[in-house]
Amino acid sequence: MKLAGLASAGMAGLAGCTGGDGNGGGGDGGNGGGSNQLEIVHWWTAGGEKEALDALLEGFQQRHGDVEINNNPAPGGAGSALDTVIKNRVLNENPPSTFQIWPGKALAPYTSSDVLEDVSDVWNDDMRNAYRESVQNAAQPAGTLVSVPINIHRLNNVFYNVSVLEQAGVDPSGLNDPQAMADALDAVATETDAAPLAHSTQDPWPTLQLWETEFIARNGVGAFDDFAAGNVQQHEGAIRESLQAVAGYREYFNGDAGSISWDQANTKIVEGDAAFIHQGDWAAGQYEASEGFEFESDWNYAPYPGTDGVYSMVMDSFVFPKNNPSPDATRKFLSYCGTADAQRRFNPVKGSIPPRTDVSGEEFGPFLTRQIEQFKASDSQPLTIAHGSAVTPEVKSNMEEAFAGFNENWNVDRAYEGINSAF
Ligand code: GAL
Repeated sequence: MKLAGLASAGMAGLAGCTGGDGNGGGGDGGNGGGSNQLEIVHWWTAGGEKEALDALLEGFQQRHGDVEINNNPAPGGAGSALDTVIKNRVLNENPPSTFQIWPGKALAPYTSSDVLEDVSDVWNDDMRNAYRESVQNAAQPAGTLVSVPINIHRLNNVFYNVSVLEQAGVDPSGLNDPQAMADALDAVATETDAAPLAHSTQDPWPTLQLWETEFIARNGVGAFDDFAAGNVQQHEGAIRESLQAVAGYREYFNGDAGSISWDQANTKIVEGDAAFIHQGDWAAGQYEASEGFEFESDWNYAPYPGTDGVYSMVMDSFVFPKNNPSPDATRKFLSYCGTADAQRRFNPVKGSIPPRTDVSGEEFGPFLTRQIEQFKASDSQPLTIAHGSAVTPEVKSNMEEAFAGFNENWNVDRAYEGINSAF
């Protein structure tokens, strides 16, 4: 197998390592057999996310009680820790049975290194007919189906604590553009003791996703897609302006932003210690898992001000690495992830909508029912940088470096330089 793609994606030290033909190692490359133990590596340990995975695994075990689950998380929001773990194991030809990965460009180093099995046979007619086309396309970035997506999250939301907004005299129905957002943050700061904008700067991705969403709010999806394709300098003014806006928000962050994770920041919304948070709707999974914290009466959300009609998609999927220790069990698991039963169990708890169009809406509750309606009514569904679908892992990691610096110094010039050299 060729490892160049993976090696160049931050694994230069292992560039000389060569593997077999994909049929060696502990497994038989997917033609059956292998261990009965399904090792699954993922990062879903936060509130709501853990419960969602448990619900999925429970459904799987009901159908395949013969498979033993080895649930082996690599915790860290947005895969901040998983990436390195997986690259090392794949390069060492000791991969888990399956691992979580965003479909789309995040798969590129794996497909160019030829370390993933073709899962076209898992994609039976039922799946092919039921999946939304854009999601199915993301599962085959190099033309061959290599992953099974299980959910669609929306990134461009702003969630809020209803009573904190009432106390601040902010009417959420007026949150229509970035200026309205800035005014609302100001009102919370003046009128309440709550942090206006809950945030985490422990890792770069929350600020990167805030910036990319602010960029779309100010400049639209066309400009964003053009930027994500690598046309940076044409958008210099727009990039700097949205960096400046994000730098302005930092005075509204909770004081401990630098030392807490995204879900700890989100807990501040649950506890009434913060008014707003910008997050993907995995944040709603955490609210749903919080006893006595109800949609509409206690928490609510709006599309990120200025992005009405946009549904920024964050998807997750599972793959079938070559040298697979448990080809039979892996195939069973991927097939299950593609079913309506799996997606009906997983998504309502996760805060995401299903990529299949035939999953019964009954269990989705009012929040996700609204998201599903907004997805259907949306004008555009851009992919994202912070969640790996819009750019290659190499570009994403360079962008993260720029935003790690920005989290420290909030220097627009330096951040722009970092962004400019990221592509
Ligand atoms: C995203 C992932 C979501 C959620 C989030 C926070 O990248 O797609 O499912 O886990 O990170 O960690």
